[in-house]
Amino acid sequence: MKTTIHDCKLIDLPRKYDRRGSLTPITNQDQIPFDIVRTYYLYDVPGGESRGGHAHRELQQLIMSVMGAFDVVLDDGTDKKTVRLERAYYGLYVPRQIWRELINFSSGGICLVLASMPYDEAEYIRDYDTFIQEKQK
Ligand code: TYD
Repeated sequence: MKTTIHDCKLIDLPRKYDRRGSLTPITNQDQIPFDIVRTYYLYDVPGGESRGGHAHRELQQLIMSVMGAFDVVLDDGTDKKTVRLERAYYGLYVPRQIWRELINFSSGGICLVLASMPYDEAEYIRDYDTFIQEKQK
């Protein structure tokens, strides 16, 4: 089934808050629709910088801003939408075959990504025309 930007969902994660601060736990298959196989984070991103600019053939992800803010531009080849991430208790679920760009990073921003598969460069679609072609199959 073809994925669309409407399959990208903002997930409200648990937030344990008291005077000492906040804690957000995430457990496999509890809050998110895949098993977490890999985690990585983007940091030391200069203010205003962009990341992403690709799609994945099979990978599913949960994208979070655990510090600062950035915008995620989602594109399914037909429609686009932009989601601003600026709270550590929101995760943006992105299914396979969605083109994404992470833009407008605030200085010192940290993006945490939970992923459903090991890193595999062959699974990336880094060329936008190829993405559109694969989407139309
Ligand atoms: P890249 O996909 O360009 O980052 P972004 O999605 O933020 O634009 O990845 C940057 C580099 O890091 C590239 O050489 C691939 C490498 N990399 C890994 O080795 N393992 C990983 O899990 C990821 C996500 C990237």
